[in-house]
Amino acid sequence: MVVDNKGIISFIRVLKEDLALFRIKPLEGQVPDFRAGQFVTLGLPVKSENGKIVRRAYSIASPPEIKKHFELIIRWVKKPVPGRFTTELFDRKEGDEIYWLKPTGPFGLIDKWPNGKKEDRRIVMMGGGTGLAPFISMALHLKASRDKREVVVLHGASYVDELSYREMLQDLEEESIDKGEFNFRYRASISRPDEWLNRSWSGQKGRVESFLKKDPLTDRSNLEKLVGEKITPENTMFYICGWQGTVDAVLQQLEPLGFVEEKKKRADGTYDIRYESYG
Ligand SMILES: Cc1cc2nc3c(=O)[nH]c(=O)nc-3n(C[C@H](O)[C@H](O)[C@H](O)COP(=O)(O)OP(=O)(O)OC[C@H]3O[C@@H](n4cnc5c(N)ncnc54)[C@H](O)[C@@H]3O)c2cc1C
Ligand SMILES: NC(=O)c1ccc[n+]([C@@H]2O[C@H](COP(=O)([O-])OP(=O)(O)OC[C@H]3O[C@@H](n4cnc5c(N)ncnc54)[C@H](OP(=O)(O)O)[C@@H]3O)[C@@H](O)[C@H]2O)c1
Repeated sequence: MVVDNKGIISFIRVLKEDLALFRIKPLEGQVPDFRAGQFVTLGLPVKSENGKIVRRAYSIASPPEIKKHFELIIRWVKKPVPGRFTTELFDRKEGDEIYWLKPTGPFGLIDKWPNGKKEDRRIVMMGGGTGLAPFISMALHLKASRDKREVVVLHGASYVDELSYREMLQDLEEESIDKGEFNFRYRASISRPDEWLNRSWSGQKGRVESFLKKDPLTDRSNLEKLVGEKITPENTMFYICGWQGTVDAVLQQLEPLGFVEEKKKRADGTYDIRYESYG
C-alpha cells in the first residue's frame, strides 16, 4: 500500500523559467535513511484532474547525512504537452504542502563486491542535465564519509545557467586541492556553445560524453588529461545518469576499451559501469 507522507516545500531557487531547486522538509520527524543515488517519489493533487494525486520520482541531490530536508533539481517539462506533475509543482510556493514516499531505487555507489573485494578505483560520474542530481548526493556522501577514492564529477548541459551546482562543485574542488582531505575534481561541458546565452563559456564544448573523446594528437581524452593517466577498467569505475542517448554514447566509447556495464556483469559479479537513464 502507498503511504503518502506529508512535507513542506521549504525552499525554492528558480535557476530559470523551467529549472529549479526544491527542498522538501518532512512535516513530522526527519528524512529517513537512504542511500546516495536513490530517488524520492513526490505527490501533488492536480487541480485539472479533480484533485487526483499524481506521483513522480526525483533523484535526491542532498546526501543521506542531511536529515532536515531532501534537495531536488527539477525540470518543468513543457513539451510536447505540459507535464502533469511538474506543471503543478512549478505553480507552488515556499510553505506549500506536498506528499512524499520513502526513498528507494537501485542506483548508488559500489563500496564492496559480492566476492568481498573492496571497490577502490577512481570514481567518474557523468551527468546530463538534471541527471547530475544523484552525483551531488554521492559526492557529498563520499566527502562526509572521508572516502579515500578519487572522485571526478563531469556535468553536461545545454546552457551555462543549467550548470546547477557549479559554484558548490568548484568550491569543493578548490577545498580538496587546498586541504588534500577529499580527492575531488569537477568539470562541465556546454553542448550549445554558439548560442548567445553561452557567450561567457570558454570551457569544454559538446555533450558530457565529449570528455571521453581522444585527441588524435596526444591519444588522450580530456578526462585522461585531467586525471593524468590512461583510463582503464583497472583504475576507474563509471556512473552515468541522463538521457539514454548519453548512456549509449558513453558505453560506445568505453566498451571497446574493455569496460563492462552492470547488465553484462562478469561471472564474479563485478563490472565497471553503472547507469540510470531516462527518455
Ligand atoms: C528514477 C527517476 C529519477 C528521476 N529524477 C528526476 C530528477 O532528478 N529531476 C527531474 O527533473 N526529473 C526526474 N525524473 C523524471 C520525473 O520522474 C518525471 O518523469 C518528470 O518530471 C515528468 O513528469 P510530469 O508529470 O511533469 O510529466 P508527464 O505528464 O509524465 O509527461 C512526460 C512526458 O510525456 C509527454 N506527454 C504527456 N502526455 C502526452 C500526450 N498526450 N501526448 C504526447 N506527449 C505527452 C510530456 O510532454 C512529457 O514530455 C526522474 C525519473 C525517474 C524514473
Ligand atoms: N533518473 C532519471 O530517470 C531522471 C533524472 C533526472 C531527470 N530526468 C528527466 O529527464 C528529462 C530532461 O532532462 P534534462 O532537462 O535535465 O536534460 P536536458 O537539459 O534536455 O539535456 C541535458 C544534456 O543532455 C543532452 N541531451 C539531450 N538529449 C539527448 C539525447 N537524446 N542523447 C544524448 N544527449 C542528450 C543535451 O544536449 P543538447 O544541448 O544537444 O540537447 C544537454 O547537454 C526531464 O523530463 C526530467 O524530468 C530523469
